[in-house]
Amino acid sequence: MTHPANPESVFTYGAPQLKFGRGAAEEIGYDLSLIGANRVLVVTDRGVAATGTPQRVADHMQRFGITAHVFDGSRVEPTDESLQAAIEYARESGPWDAFVAVGGGSSIDTAKAINLLLTNPGALMDYVNVPVGAGLAPVNALKPLVAVPTTTGTGSESTTICVLDVLSQKVKTGISHARLRPTLAVIDPDLTMTQPPGVTAASGMDILCHALESYTARPYTSFERKAPERRVPYCGSNPIADMWSEKALGLLAGSFRQAVQHGDDADARADMALAATFAGMGFGNAGVHIPHSNGYPIAGRVKDFHPKDYPADEPMVPHGMSVALTAPEAFRFTFDAAPERHLRAAALLAPDAERTRDPAEQLPTILIALMRDIGLPNGVTGVGFDEGDVDGLVEGTMKQQRLLATAPKPVTEDDVAAIFRRSMQLW
Ligand SMILES: NC(=O)c1ccc[n+]([C@@H]2O[C@H](COP(=O)([O-])OP(=O)(O)OC[C@H]3O[C@@H](n4cnc5c(N)ncnc54)[C@H](O)[C@@H]3O)[C@@H](O)[C@H]2O)c1
Ligand SMILES: [Zn+2]
Repeated sequence: MTHPANPESVFTYGAPQLKFGRGAAEEIGYDLSLIGANRVLVVTDRGVAATGTPQRVADHMQRFGITAHVFDGSRVEPTDESLQAAIEYARESGPWDAFVAVGGGSSIDTAKAINLLLTNPGALMDYVNVPVGAGLAPVNALKPLVAVPTTTGTGSESTTICVLDVLSQKVKTGISHARLRPTLAVIDPDLTMTQPPGVTAASGMDILCHALESYTARPYTSFERKAPERRVPYCGSNPIADMWSEKALGLLAGSFRQAVQHGDDADARADMALAATFAGMGFGNAGVHIPHSNGYPIAGRVKDFHPKDYPADEPMVPHGMSVALTAPEAFRFTFDAAPERHLRAAALLAPDAERTRDPAEQLPTILIALMRDIGLPNGVTGVGFDEGDVDGLVEGTMKQQRLLATAPKPVTEDDVAAIFRRSMQLW
């Protein structure tokens, strides 16, 4: 790690207003009535709509004199095209006073894009991160957005990010700006009870990687000092984000396997929901690094993999699965940059685990045991890639420089290639 000439001495912390607990989703109408909202668009996807939850949330709002309309056209893992279609739908059916996203990261991110483009000039690609898009900052304030997660995963309800697949460039990237952060996050664990096991497993690995990557991220003090106007939401690891990541790991230790294997366990579901929220509040301010950078090309270059419990119409590697597959090897690689953090994370995640002879193996060993138990595919070959795909995957990872910059040590193409090769099969 290079030592900055003028080290950063400031970090920032942002989070939305938050309501957590069983029954919280019934209070959204009240919360929106306080700001005088009359016409509200509820944004979801078809799978979540089929559980009846979005319509129930809309019906509760009607009691406060709010007209709420359910739009179920979010794509599972949004693309530029799906976001564009959603934006057009909302524009034609508007105006809307506020948006309520009920669903996983896919629905919440779709609502963020709708909100951005209905309140600001220009086109979607104007706001997408450089070099894929123009990376412009929104000039106008957005409308109120209430984010109501039904998965236990992304933490999108508390982040400033909207993730999308830009089809023409075969790349997953994002829009990132403080204005995208939801006004209010409403986390009601009851809504997560219908999450199928496959979704619980993949989205749970997203929580875990958020916590581990932000906890092992380059410390904020290792960056050059930024001018105030150059500050970004991701600061590197810092004492406040660390606290959330540690708490998230402790909750996952007690609930992850149980939530996958016994989805009707309300306590496990509630702990997973809390873990997702905590990890979101951590990584949303610290950042993520190698596993997430590798996850984007794994998802973007999918060939013919159809995961259980996800829509079957198109091949996909779900986000949480795509980031998990190289995590054991990524943390074996980063171990020497911050051994004590890797060991502390391992101890939080599996307090009773046997000590491995080589301390660098501790966290990877725990991760692999967990992934086996919850039914994740066995490595990158498990989702349809082989050695011949490594060059393409590495190229995709190297495009995620914004994320790689948060890794605790420099990452070369050869390093990434070695991580992919060693991740072909994990057990
Ligand atoms: N904005 C962020 O900060 C951020 C962070 C990480 C990931 N993401 C993005 O979020 C997306 C993934 O989101 P996700 O993992 O939350 O899942 P998701 O929204 O893609 O949903 C996954 C599947 O589960 C179904 N589902 C969701 N909740 C359900 C419930 N309670 N009952 C029954 N079925 C349910 C959906 O219909 C869908 O088929 C990806 O596009 C990813 O890139 C965003
Ligand atoms: Zn993620």
